[in-house]
Amino acid sequence: MAGKHTVAVVGSGNWGTAIAKIVGENTAQHSDVFNKDVKMWVFEEEVEHEGKKRPLTEVINEKHENVKYLPNIALPEGIVAEPDVVKAVEGANILIFNLPHQFVGKVCKQLRDSGKVSKDAVGISCIKGVEISKDDISLFPYTIGEELGIYVGALSGANIANEVAEEKFCETTIAYAPKDDKGVSSDTIKKLFHRDYFRVGMCEDVAGVSLAGALKNVVAVAAGFADGLGWGDNSKAAVMRVGLMEMKKFAKTFFPDVRSATFTEESCGIADLITSCLGGRNRRCAEAFVKTGKSMDELEQDMLNGQKLQGAGTAEELFHFLDKKGKTDDFKLFTAVYNIVYQGLPPDQLAENI
Ligand code: NAD
Ligand code: 13P
Repeated sequence: MAGKHTVAVVGSGNWGTAIAKIVGENTAQHSDVFNKDVKMWVFEEEVEHEGKKRPLTEVINEKHENVKYLPNIALPEGIVAEPDVVKAVEGANILIFNLPHQFVGKVCKQLRDSGKVSKDAVGISCIKGVEISKDDISLFPYTIGEELGIYVGALSGANIANEVAEEKFCETTIAYAPKDDKGVSSDTIKKLFHRDYFRVGMCEDVAGVSLAGALKNVVAVAAGFADGLGWGDNSKAAVMRVGLMEMKKFAKTFFPDVRSATFTEESCGIADLITSCLGGRNRRCAEAFVKTGKSMDELEQDMLNGQKLQGAGTAEELFHFLDKKGKTDDFKLFTAVYNIVYQGLPPDQLAENI
């Protein structure tokens, strides 16, 4: 591609905004390679700000801060909040998808129907989830790619958004290996995301990176149950070990080309599992599930101020898929999480069910 790359971020939640910050810092720093301005699609809503109700996009563009989903973090001036998703991606050739997985289908359909996504674009999915339809499973880089007719890679890692936004050092993994890169090389993608505080490791295992991020959310729910039950560090380590084995087995069973090393050696594997089981929202809400007896939906509402949980929904999606395949017994931890959240299995029966 001739000229500079134009970047758009589809999504502006806790992680969507933190990634927009990183990307906006890099488009400003590498102004020879990228256009500085980055449109960030915002699912518009009214927020209470300084005593007045105002559209979130208006507040973000005035304050350079996402006061609802990433408060107290200054965003680069090049980040422009846009309530129309079609306008947000128009003219962009690098599209970053970063929204809760339950909303991806609807947004992609809207983009496809608009016909405004450039055929010269490539994408990166930062989404942690799986797509189950009938008795099939797919991953978001593939479903988004097919819907929009573009190549999409994956970014995932041990990246609790608030810590990344505070520029506390961490690593991430990006899988990007298009047959035709449309002029967006692997080096360009690395340049777009790498910061001193956000170390990027590149690889080619799109399925492995995407699956690791999705599956660890279910293990984090189990880790939260262990915390809620007052079990100790040894118990949580056991949950994490069993969970990691199940993640690898699931990946190898349904996506035989994934690399084991993606799970055991990359930030998106073992490291993300650890941070999510120590500090994530899925873990926190699962602990409260045990302690309060409230449903996960209620806890999401009570505890997350509009942010969304992915782990319980993913456990349900996996359960229905595994059930259709007659394989629930092979994935005991995933199945136990589903049974505890949705079928009334007492959480203290976690150990004997995994
Ligand atoms: P979030 O949990 O903050 O979710 C809130 C976002 O969802 C807001 O932008 C809100 O406007 C949007 N939303 C609400 N209802 C909607 C609707 N009907 N249609 C479309 N959008 C709607 O989101 P997030 O933290 O940015 O998560 C995005 C992805 O990144 C998820 O897959 C998550 O697992 C992953 N992730 C999150 C973190 C983290 O620490 N937050 C870190 C790494 C990866
Ligand atoms: P939670 O959604 O459980 O907070 O996990 C965040 C995450 O994916 C950290 O890498």
